[in-house]
Amino acid sequence: MELIDLKVEYQKNPLGLDIKKPRFSWKLVSKERDVLQTAYRILVKNDGESVWDSGEKDCSSSVLIEYNGQELEPCTLYQVQVEVWDNKGHKAIVSGSFETGLLKGTNFCADWITHDYPADETGCPVFTKEFKVEKEISKVRMYATALGVYEIKLNGEKVGDSYFSPGWTNYHKRLQYQTYQVDGILPGENKLEITVGNGWYKGIFGFTCTPNHYGDRVAVLAEVHITYCDGSTEIIKTDDSWMVTTGIIRSSEIYMGETIDTCYKEENLSRVVLTTFDKERIVGQESEAVRITKRLPAKELINTPKGEKVIDFHQNLTGFVELKVTGKPGQKITIRHAEVLDKDGNFYPDTLRLAISIDQFICNGEEQTFLPHFTFHGFRYIAIEGLEEINLESFTACVLHTQMEETGTFISSNPLVNQLQRNILWSQRGNFLDIPTDCPQRDERLGWTGDAQVFAGTAAYNMNVASFFSKWLHDLASEQTEEFGVPHVVPNILGNQDGAAAWSDAAVIIPWVMYETYGDVRILEEQFESMEGWINYITARCGTNGLWQTGFQYGDWLGLDKEEGSTERTGATDKYLVANAYYAYSTNIVRKTAEVLNKLEDVQKYDQLYQKIKRAINEEYITAAGRMVSETQTGCVLALHFDLAEEKYRKRILKSLETNIANHKNHLTTGFVGTPYLCHTLSENNLHDLAGALFLKEDYPSWLYAVKKGATTIWERWNSILPNGDFDTSGMNSLNHYAYGSIGEWMYRKLAGINQLEPGYKKILIKPEFIKGIHSVEATFNSMYGVIKSAWKCNDKKIKVDVEIPANTTALLYLPEKEKPLELGSGSYQFEYETETNLERDRFTMDSTLKEIFDEPVAIQILNQYAPEMMNHPMIEFAYQLSIREILATAPGETETLFKMVIDALNRTEVSI
Ligand code: BGC
Repeated sequence: MELIDLKVEYQKNPLGLDIKKPRFSWKLVSKERDVLQTAYRILVKNDGESVWDSGEKDCSSSVLIEYNGQELEPCTLYQVQVEVWDNKGHKAIVSGSFETGLLKGTNFCADWITHDYPADETGCPVFTKEFKVEKEISKVRMYATALGVYEIKLNGEKVGDSYFSPGWTNYHKRLQYQTYQVDGILPGENKLEITVGNGWYKGIFGFTCTPNHYGDRVAVLAEVHITYCDGSTEIIKTDDSWMVTTGIIRSSEIYMGETIDTCYKEENLSRVVLTTFDKERIVGQESEAVRITKRLPAKELINTPKGEKVIDFHQNLTGFVELKVTGKPGQKITIRHAEVLDKDGNFYPDTLRLAISIDQFICNGEEQTFLPHFTFHGFRYIAIEGLEEINLESFTACVLHTQMEETGTFISSNPLVNQLQRNILWSQRGNFLDIPTDCPQRDERLGWTGDAQVFAGTAAYNMNVASFFSKWLHDLASEQTEEFGVPHVVPNILGNQDGAAAWSDAAVIIPWVMYETYGDVRILEEQFESMEGWINYITARCGTNGLWQTGFQYGDWLGLDKEEGSTERTGATDKYLVANAYYAYSTNIVRKTAEVLNKLEDVQKYDQLYQKIKRAINEEYITAAGRMVSETQTGCVLALHFDLAEEKYRKRILKSLETNIANHKNHLTTGFVGTPYLCHTLSENNLHDLAGALFLKEDYPSWLYAVKKGATTIWERWNSILPNGDFDTSGMNSLNHYAYGSIGEWMYRKLAGINQLEPGYKKILIKPEFIKGIHSVEATFNSMYGVIKSAWKCNDKKIKVDVEIPANTTALLYLPEKEKPLELGSGSYQFEYETETNLERDRFTMDSTLKEIFDEPVAIQILNQYAPEMMNHPMIEFAYQLSIREILATAPGETETLFKMVIDALNRTEVSI
């Protein structure tokens, strides 16, 4: 047995940890089976002196064990050693360290400094300090933060590798600082430069593109702690001895882009101005930093019909482009960004709306590498101006996001599904840039709570999102009020709006998802007040019937089931049904949370409330015969998946759901609310085959429709790009919006079958379920205990299953087509057995639509021949949605056999009648 991955608060050997009682986690690995931890001992030392010895604990916990020693000192390095004993008689040791940060914002001894440039000065201020070092250095740390976003240079070299520090928090209440290890101090003269961009603090942001959301002047606070070899210390800190100038970054805005003029020389250094900002609000960095995580080469140079010079990176992404170039002095190179080309192949930046996203680089005649500092863009294509000759090697797309550990992999035999998984992952990368955003490209990029809520489950499979969400949830709680509830965006720059269902429910649902995924009880403790607060907010707004039926709601946002021609975006499901469904669902989560936290009175209170809401929902929204008020897919899904409908109604509601899906030829019509649960609901109610059929649909509306249209990220809308190549014209059309990527959780849970039976996967359920059209899946999830693997193949009359269970966990394995589950301890297991099942799909059936089977010209030809009257239909798209069966019905005299011949002639595939 070996111990690996010693983590302190989800990080390896963290620096600048600002937590009074950090938690330790480790993983056991062993070649043996059935390994369980029987005891552990944690030792924490400072300079050889013990500050905590947990003693030998007979305990199988290896995840998030809380420090319980002497009070931790600021700016201090602690050594950690963990000893573990297992049930096989082995013992192993792992060691690591953590270093505390300042532990309190008020421990900053530096002064806040700013400048007094006029308001129309767009150049980013560069705060500078020269200092001398005369003794030999043993250790240097720097602690820094800013109002704005900052970058530090020491002697011309960037300090650290993070971007967009200090990150976006609710600056009215919380501002993070960062800790850096500084290696570049030279004997003699040194120069520190801190450049500050407007960022989220002062920059142009929000639908209206207005500046100064938090303040109208950027500022910086920093201190360098030097420890010399002789044991003496010195602190270089921001104070009135610093100077300021405007630098080569002539302007920078997150939405608008950055202009860097390397010919620009500002001669005037002026004295900084001291300013204030409440140090009590300053907290240590809580999540991983934003970094460049990938560098993608330029793939293709395109000369568009309009004459634009465009580079295609073959991937929609979030970040910016690095350009290596030797230009003439003063030569201006302009880079514009877009997610897509239009159907004629021209550059199409319209999905950015008002966020113009233009970077400009002005050369100085030398060989130069340009990359922006304080802006990011959502793009796949760039259009270049100002360069005569374009060399693809000069351009690199830098992918930027919070650098979380990737924990999930999912590969199947279906290439379209694999592309879908890649798209989900890319949308997660693209939208987990310090906060969970709706989209990374247009004039929003806001922490929409609903989007984060629906995607959190999937996100937690793909990456370790515990710190990321816990930071954001702290902001959410800090913005929550009794009067307005939980904001729709966090951090909230949209002003006070009454809380809305599914969006504000992020306050309750996300902490619970984190608890289930990581076994993190502290998130529940920290958020409990906020979770309860949201329920209390709703309860205070309920009528005498105990239901919430007032105020603004997003409903099933972007649901497709609204009446034809309606421009409403809230879907057809009764908005208050959605609201009360979430009210019940969240109340039940608060009840379960109270149970975990051992708050017995609350358990009772929320249990009673939950039962009451359920009764009221049945009374108001379900008839005595079991019909739903909204027999939409989302209405039925919520009633079933949230377990709201009384038992006696469930059968009928399920039937209504099935009928509704059949009426849409096995397509979904759901929006943000119904989509994450639709396939789960079907799978959990004996309609897994239908879930599979709907999941594998390739025509609109479906997940794979976008994949077939060449999407490399998840779109905001099911029809962001129409079948004919036109774009949705509603003015709200992002091509990188993770909400519908929420299907990822179903792929991991049902197709791969990886589920937790106990929080943090201490006990695992592996239960893969086949669907027609996929004959193999291989998925892994790197849990807090280690890698869980579930892989299966079903072909040539054989089922093969390959499972890995990490040490210190146990699992229940349901082998496909076998009745009884197997109880497994840790280890690798392979199974192989006979089957009659054939998972090849009849790709096309009589109910397949024309568009699914044929390319557009052939579809038109068939319509002309068999259903000419449909050619005049105002919505030709509607005609394409006709099934073969329907076309035959409109073509009297034609037989099914004849039609089958048409298809066979096209040599596509079998049609089952
Ligand atoms: C965002 C959404 C968000 C919605 C709420 C949109 O503009 O992009 O994803 O949840 O507004 O209405």
